[in-house]
Amino acid sequence: MSDKFQPTDSYKGVRDFYPEDMAIQRYIFYSWSKTAESFGFERYDASILEPSSLYKAKGAENEEMVNEQTYTFTDRGEREVTLRPEMTPTIARMVAAKKRELAFPLRWYSIPNLFRYERPQRGRLREHWQLNCDIFGSDSISADIEIISLAYQTMIDMGAKTQDFRIRISDRAWLTAELKQYNLDDNQMKLMIQLIDRKDKIENFEEEAESITGKNMDFDSIALPDDSNVAKVLEGLKQLGINNVVFSPTIVRGFNYYTGTVFEIFDTSDENNRALIGGGRYDNLTKMFGGEPVSGVGFGIGDVTMRDFLETHNLLPESIRTTAAHTVVIPTDAEMNLAAQEISQKLRKAGQTVSTDIGTKKVEKKIISADKKGSRFVIIIGEDEVSSGKFTAKNFATGDEKTGSLLELFDFLKA
Ligand code: HAM
Repeated sequence: MSDKFQPTDSYKGVRDFYPEDMAIQRYIFYSWSKTAESFGFERYDASILEPSSLYKAKGAENEEMVNEQTYTFTDRGEREVTLRPEMTPTIARMVAAKKRELAFPLRWYSIPNLFRYERPQRGRLREHWQLNCDIFGSDSISADIEIISLAYQTMIDMGAKTQDFRIRISDRAWLTAELKQYNLDDNQMKLMIQLIDRKDKIENFEEEAESITGKNMDFDSIALPDDSNVAKVLEGLKQLGINNVVFSPTIVRGFNYYTGTVFEIFDTSDENNRALIGGGRYDNLTKMFGGEPVSGVGFGIGDVTMRDFLETHNLLPESIRTTAAHTVVIPTDAEMNLAAQEISQKLRKAGQTVSTDIGTKKVEKKIISADKKGSRFVIIIGEDEVSSGKFTAKNFATGDEKTGSLLELFDFLKA
């Protein structure tokens, strides 16, 4: 009969978050939102469901993403629906919908979960969360600088040192102009951009480039002019004290919608060779909704790579690993459960986090377990305590004890 039981595994490529994982996840999200808000970004959200057409529309389309990586299905009303693989088309839709009412430039952030049908591997899963920060309605490179400095600050605020990560930056507009000198048609241009995106991973770049363009390309000798956008962004970042940035002509980014500055942030440790953060400027994405486009610039940071990064560099504080209640109230036996619950209720009213151990184990075992879980205080409730109204609280860390009425214990329990 055992083949009738359901497997307890989660679906391939997604994660269950047991409390220890959830504590880490919450820590990361909390740090992300604090940094985003410290730059004046406002939080937004949307549903994970979007009409599939949003990802197929001209300007947004990304063939690999739409054809191979989306979770798409037909709903009961025959509508084609997609679980969002990224947030950028959604924010573009939301901005376009309220274009007349919104005050630009606006700065918004969100922490959505996203779904991509990818081969699960280190740093890449089928569901991940992403901090997205975007500025809409500014054509100035000041917005590019602002966005990259925010991405930088999210790393610093998680405890990263500047030598732990590197920002690589390029410019789609510059790259397209460079390639135009070779008189490429649209398709050759697209193939070349995809090839440059893979340049660092392949060995026969020159051969492949020649087979696409029919020409001999000396990509490595391309230099950056002093008055280019990238040079100005680099200069601006330097003025803000951000020096771990390099011009990197092979940073192209997979999405077709990018039009200007593009950047990625990498861990300098070899263990995590995938990008932690990716973003750039996309001036025309809102065009698909009609009217004058509103330009955007932003980035996404993934939670999977961020956790790998924090673990590799030993940056997860020990203290976040516990979500145990501050105080545990232990009844001497089941008869005392309700009395213990009443005491806990009073302590909570005074602002404490308290759990009542209503399990059936012996008191000694319960005390050991409360200590192990990371609670700071324990109070045992038996008949004597209830009749006298005097309770003894013990501090696990110091071994100190104090006996008194609940009122008399409040200060002691604050430690
Ligand atoms: P992206 O480069 O596809 O950009 O994703 C940004 C980050 O999300 C990546 O650097 C990576 O850390 C993480 N990520 C992406 N796919 C996965 C996956 N399958 N598993 C785990 N982590 C993943 C975008 O999505 C753009 N929409 C970002 C953006 C916002 N551009 C402008 N505004």
